[in-house]
Amino acid sequence: MVQPCTLVIFGASGDLTARKLIPALHQLYLEGQMPARFRIFGFARREKTDASWRAEMQEAVAKFSRTKPMDAARWAAFADNLYYQCGDLGDPAAYQSLATRLRSADDPDLRDNLVFYMATSPSQFGGIADNLHAAGVLRRKEDADTAWQRVVVEKPFGHDGASARTLNNQITQHVRERQVFRIDHYLGKETVQNIMMFRFSNSIFERLWNRESVDHVQITVSEEIGVGGRGGYYEEAGALRDMVQNHLLQILSLVAMEPPVSLQAESIRNEKVKLLQSIRPLSAEDVRRQAVRGQYFAGALNGENRLGYRQEEKVGPSSNVETFVALKLFIDNWRWSGVPFYLRTGKNLPLRASEVRVQFRPTPNVLFAARTADPLQPNALTLRLQPDEGISLFFNGKVPGNSAQLRPVRMHFDYDAEFGAYTPEAYERLLLEAMAGDATLFIRRDEVEAAWQIVDSIRAGWSGTPLSNREFYAAGTWGPVAAEDLLAQAGHQWHNP
Ligand code: BG6
Repeated sequence: MVQPCTLVIFGASGDLTARKLIPALHQLYLEGQMPARFRIFGFARREKTDASWRAEMQEAVAKFSRTKPMDAARWAAFADNLYYQCGDLGDPAAYQSLATRLRSADDPDLRDNLVFYMATSPSQFGGIADNLHAAGVLRRKEDADTAWQRVVVEKPFGHDGASARTLNNQITQHVRERQVFRIDHYLGKETVQNIMMFRFSNSIFERLWNRESVDHVQITVSEEIGVGGRGGYYEEAGALRDMVQNHLLQILSLVAMEPPVSLQAESIRNEKVKLLQSIRPLSAEDVRRQAVRGQYFAGALNGENRLGYRQEEKVGPSSNVETFVALKLFIDNWRWSGVPFYLRTGKNLPLRASEVRVQFRPTPNVLFAARTADPLQPNALTLRLQPDEGISLFFNGKVPGNSAQLRPVRMHFDYDAEFGAYTPEAYERLLLEAMAGDATLFIRRDEVEAAWQIVDSIRAGWSGTPLSNREFYAAGTWGPVAAEDLLAQAGHQWHNP
C-alpha cells in the first residue's frame, strides 16, 4: 500500500503535467491505486488559483485521459485534492509559501511524506533542490526517519557526462541517492518491463540467449512524427541524446544483462549498470565505422508532405543535428563476446514501432540449399514493444505439397488478444512506484553516467564533421543509406517492423 503523501509538481503549466502527469494520477485514482489520502500541488509562475488550475486540469484530463468519458462526480472528488502554488522557480519566498501550505495539513503523512516532481528544464533542478532544502521541506533521509521526501527528475538528465555528474552532485547535496527517482518513461511501459520477465521465466529462450546461439540483435525505435514544434530543444539534443542515451540503452541493458540476484531495485540496477559498463568504448575510428547519423529532408509520409529538418521551426538552415542514429555496439563480456547489437532510432520514419529482434545463428545450409533459391531465413524472435504489442517467433516450415519447399512462418503472441486491451500509460506506473518508493523502474546515478560515457564517445567522434550525403534520408523512408551499409559490412540487414 502506498502511504499517504503530497506530490508537488514543478513546471505545472507545462505540457507534461497536462498531457501525462495529471491524467495518470487521475487514472490511478479511478482505479483505487492512489493512497487513501493525498494532495497534489502544481507549482508554476503563472497567476492561477486552485479553482482555475482545477478547471484547466479538468480540460486536460478530458482530452488526454485513456478512459472516456470522464465521470464528473469522480473528477470532482479527485480535484478536491489539487492545489496551485504560484511562484518563480528562483524565488526563495515562493518556496516559503509552499512550505507553509505543505505544513498546513493536520495529517502528519500528508505534511511530511513529500514527492517533488521536477518537470522543468534540467538547468533548474539544482536550484529547486536548494530552495526546497532552505525552506526546510527537503532533507536527507536517516534510517530512523519514518517520514520521507523524494525527488523525481525528468529527462534530459544532463547534456553529457560532465553535466550529468554536476547535476547529480547538486541534487544529492540535500538527499541520498535512494531518494532520487530519475525517469525514463520507457521503463514504465509494460512491454519493456516484460523483457526481463520473459527472459528469466522461460528456459527455452534463456538458454539460447548468448553468443553460442545468437547471431546478432537489432533494436529499432522508429517514430513517425518529425521534430514538429520542438526544434529549439532538438537542436540542442539530437537523436543520440534524446533517444539513445536513455530509451535505447535502457532497452539494450534489459535485453542483454545477466540475471539479477533478486527482484530488488538494487539487484536489477546493478546488472543494468554492469551491462552498460561492458559496452566496448568507441574510439574515433570505431565511431566512423560503427555509428551512423542521419537527418531527414522533405518527403512524403502516408500521403502527407513533411518538411525537411532544416526547414523546421527554430532549426538552423545548415544544422548538422541528427534526427536518426544507427549504431553497432559490442558487449565485451562472457555471454555476448563477438555478437553485434544494432540500435537505430529516427524521426519521420514510415511508421511508429519499437521492436527488439534477436536473430539466431543460421543452420548449416547443406540439406536444402539445392532446393531453395534463397538462403534459408534464420530463426528470429521479435519482442514488439509498441504499438501492437506482442512477441513473434520466426521459423521455417514446409510448404504443403509434393516438394521439399520451405518458407518462413511465425508463431505469434498478441498482448491484446491474450490479456485484453489493458495498456496503462507509462506514467501511471512510474508515479505509483515513486510514491511507493520502489526505484526499480528508475535510473540510478551510475547508470546515467555509464550511458553518457558511450554517448559522449560517439559525439566526440562526430564533432566537427558535417553530415555526408549518405547520411541524409527523405522523410517517410527507413533512414539513410549509411545505415544499410553499417549492417551490410557483416552480411546483415535491417528488418523493418
Ligand atoms: C521522448 C523523446 O523521450 O520520447 C521524444 O524526447 C520521443 O522525442 C518520445 O518522441 C517517444 O516516446 P514514445 O513513448 O512515444 O515512444
